[in-house]
Amino acid sequence: MLLGTQRVNAQGRLEIGGCDTVALAQEFGTPLYVVDEAELRARCRAYAAAFADRYPRNRIHYASKALLNLAVARIIAQEGLCLDTASYGELFTALRARFPAARINLHGSNKLAPEIELAVRRRIGHITLDNFGEIQLVADAAAAQQRPVRVLVRVAPGVDPDTHRFISTGQADTKFGFNILDGSAMEAVRRALASPALRFDGIHFHVGSQLLDTVSHEEAISAAVDLMAQIRATTGALCHELNIGGGLGVRYLSTHEPPSLETYAERITGALRSALARHGLPMPVLAQEPGRSLVAEAGTTLYTVGAIKTVPTLTAPGSRTYASIDGGLSDNPRPQLYEAVYEVIAANKADRPHDRTLAIAGRHCETDVLIWDASAPELEPGDTLAVQTTGAYNAAMASNYNKFLRPAMVLVGDDRADLIVERETPADLVRHDCVPARLKAGART
Ligand code: LLP
Repeated sequence: MLLGTQRVNAQGRLEIGGCDTVALAQEFGTPLYVVDEAELRARCRAYAAAFADRYPRNRIHYASKALLNLAVARIIAQEGLCLDTASYGELFTALRARFPAARINLHGSNKLAPEIELAVRRRIGHITLDNFGEIQLVADAAAAQQRPVRVLVRVAPGVDPDTHRFISTGQADTKFGFNILDGSAMEAVRRALASPALRFDGIHFHVGSQLLDTVSHEEAISAAVDLMAQIRATTGALCHELNIGGGLGVRYLSTHEPPSLETYAERITGALRSALARHGLPMPVLAQEPGRSLVAEAGTTLYTVGAIKTVPTLTAPGSRTYASIDGGLSDNPRPQLYEAVYEVIAANKADRPHDRTLAIAGRHCETDVLIWDASAPELEPGDTLAVQTTGAYNAAMASNYNKFLRPAMVLVGDDRADLIVERETPADLVRHDCVPARLKAGART
């Protein structure tokens, strides 16, 4: 499958944004994260258009945890989207990119005082409350700055989405948000309403990630609107905003079929309208926080093939070929964490049939196989591999395991490539290490 602006050029090589990926690998080295600017912008626009057509009072926050750096933050700001942050670091990066503070919100299941202080001082749009202790912390910070803070109350809607259990958050047994069924959510709303330092604006939920249908979103919307009705009935307060989180899935494999943005928007706004009508509630602002569905398919990772070995197996077909790449677990931990699956294109042999089955292995001291049954042409050392759909939660979750260097990232579009994240250097690996004086002398030789 070719995604975004990917195409095969006359030399039989994979191009993205008009750039030959084999040339990119030569110029910038591998592993290399490549971001397709036109595709990222097109997804932002398509998402916004799909909802604007169906529900005018809507707002889209890009979930920055999926991929955030200064250049990506600038693109999201230019596209007019809002931004969801979930840590001091994400908030700091967004502000450093001059992302308009009023368009940022802050999440977190255990927010620390410095995060709250920064958010309040810089007057970001909303803070989403996640536990009782935090209500007081935010109120205290607001009082110290002498300005009320707008808050949402995050609730666990009690739905169990069909996805990997490590990325499912909407069920009742979760660390996130206030439980609706046991009355905690209602109590949190009461406390927020009672605090003069807080302005209660509405509720938030996030059911889970990489969802390939809308069933759990629809169930959660219904539960959330029931709560909105209960809030109005018992306190008289109206929820001005309902934030339904992110979660829409993407194509990791050609066989994956997430709902189109039109279908997704139709189902979400349909579920919201009918729940509101059931209770006679006015239309709140519909806010959401897509991360993966905006950026995943805009990202490709380039690797260089090294060692290739074929080993006997006990099961058919009797042998397996491992092609090792120059990255792995440290630049993409998702296969190990979530049994995530990917497809690959041999970038320098993109026009050849991908009719062999082989394992693409990382080079860490673990069984870090990136793809167990990849379809590829016959590979040789030196080939460039392009692993697709790596824009979300790859660079964002990269580590220095085995003291590997985190890769560079380039932004491609209109036949040009710009470096947006430099490759780490060996010096970066020891930059924060300290050697106490008593360890400096006396090494045995
Ligand atoms: N809003 C909240 C409050 C979230 O917790 C998340 C994701 C999102 C929005 C964005 O969800 P998305 O549209 O990207 O599905 N590292 C995992 C994904 C963890 C997602 C956590 N929360 C992965 O690599 O699959």
